[in-house]
Amino acid sequence: MNSCVIGLQWGDEGKGKIVDILAENSDIVVRYSGGANAGHTVVVGDTKFKLHLLPSGSVRPGTTCVIANGVAVDPQVLLEEIETLGQQDITLNGRLFISGNAHLVMDYHKKEDQLREESLGKNKLGTTVRGIGPCYSDKVGRSYAVRMDDLADLENLKVKLQAIVDYKNKVFSALYDAVPISADELFDKCKVYSEKLSPFRTNTTQFLHKAIADGKSILFEGAQGSLLDLDHGTFPFVTSSNSSSLGMPAGCGVPAKTVDKFIGVIKAYTTRVGAGPFPAEQDNDIGQYIRDRGQEYGTTTGRPRRCGWFDAVPVSYAITIGAIDCIALMHLDTLSGLKELNICKAYEIDGEQTRFFPTNAAQLSRATAVYETVPGWEEEITEVSDFNDLPENAQNYVCRVEEMTGKPVTMIGVGPKRSQTIFR
Ligand code: IMP
Repeated sequence: MNSCVIGLQWGDEGKGKIVDILAENSDIVVRYSGGANAGHTVVVGDTKFKLHLLPSGSVRPGTTCVIANGVAVDPQVLLEEIETLGQQDITLNGRLFISGNAHLVMDYHKKEDQLREESLGKNKLGTTVRGIGPCYSDKVGRSYAVRMDDLADLENLKVKLQAIVDYKNKVFSALYDAVPISADELFDKCKVYSEKLSPFRTNTTQFLHKAIADGKSILFEGAQGSLLDLDHGTFPFVTSSNSSSLGMPAGCGVPAKTVDKFIGVIKAYTTRVGAGPFPAEQDNDIGQYIRDRGQEYGTTTGRPRRCGWFDAVPVSYAITIGAIDCIALMHLDTLSGLKELNICKAYEIDGEQTRFFPTNAAQLSRATAVYETVPGWEEEITEVSDFNDLPENAQNYVCRVEEMTGKPVTMIGVGPKRSQTIFR
């Protein structure tokens, strides 16, 4: 059984917890897109792990982890994560495999991301400043790209880095009047990356196809959410990779039909970090209530997340483009205590009602949410482990989400721990 876990909103849906749970019955967990802009929180017992690059399965000692070609690998962050897990006696030796074709996020990418965002002022995208856009730009541009495989040939890498840094410094100086970076210092860092990361480098496409032939069970772990997909999200307020399930085959060289089940993860409400239209946003006491109870602050940047009601319009769209089979509904406990809940069932755009999600940012910014109001529930539900023990209004809420999205909700999150999950 191979599964793929995909966020169906603007990221931060709680994928890390679902991947961690499903990893128990998987031989291999694969990250195939995005980079250290992702932030996956996994809570095991009393320990909280915050991962940006390593697959969420890495906290399970028996699980093999793959970082495939579609990931933008920040070697510095990756080494820090490997070392942090090592300090907790979790070793990745012999069970982490990184694609030689994966592109590397270099210091100049992070600098470029920061300088560009600063220069855009109020028009900035609100990126995580992790160098993701500049790294993927260099991948598409090809001439200035650096990949994991380049760490294997330091002599060549030195020459290559000198040329790239010369070019980047000209841009930094001309456009931003910024301090240049040193090619020598960057090369010294790359020598360390080469030494420490080379043991993990391999041809992950070949590795995964062999694993499939051997009947291994593989879990593909999406990063970010479908609405941040470069081609199918709310452009330009998106990330620079295909974060919907459409990115899975390209990001790891394994056909989508290998996956038996695409599991879509949603929160019982909606959040968004960074700029961009958000029709169901509640920039008011309701939004603050959700933010406080759901601890809606970015794992990667610490930024307060924008919060709003559950919006069935984009989720239905993400289900359609992603061939989603079933849903994991997270953070249901966050909504306890609200007398009434709104669910956005349609948009009104230019005087017309529609259930179709416009990805065009200008059109989406003209959309007004059309709500259905349902009764809330008072009780805390963090200790509930059986669906039938949820307050009736909470059960009804879950059923209404199923009706509106047309997919069964098979898992419900009622708290951050593994154990706080209801299976249906
Ligand atoms: P970038 O991926 O850092 O370039 O950021 C582009 C947009 O995607 C910004 O709005 C970010 O806040 C958002 N974003 C990127 N990664 C994540 C994530 O893991 N969760 C939520 N939002 C994200």
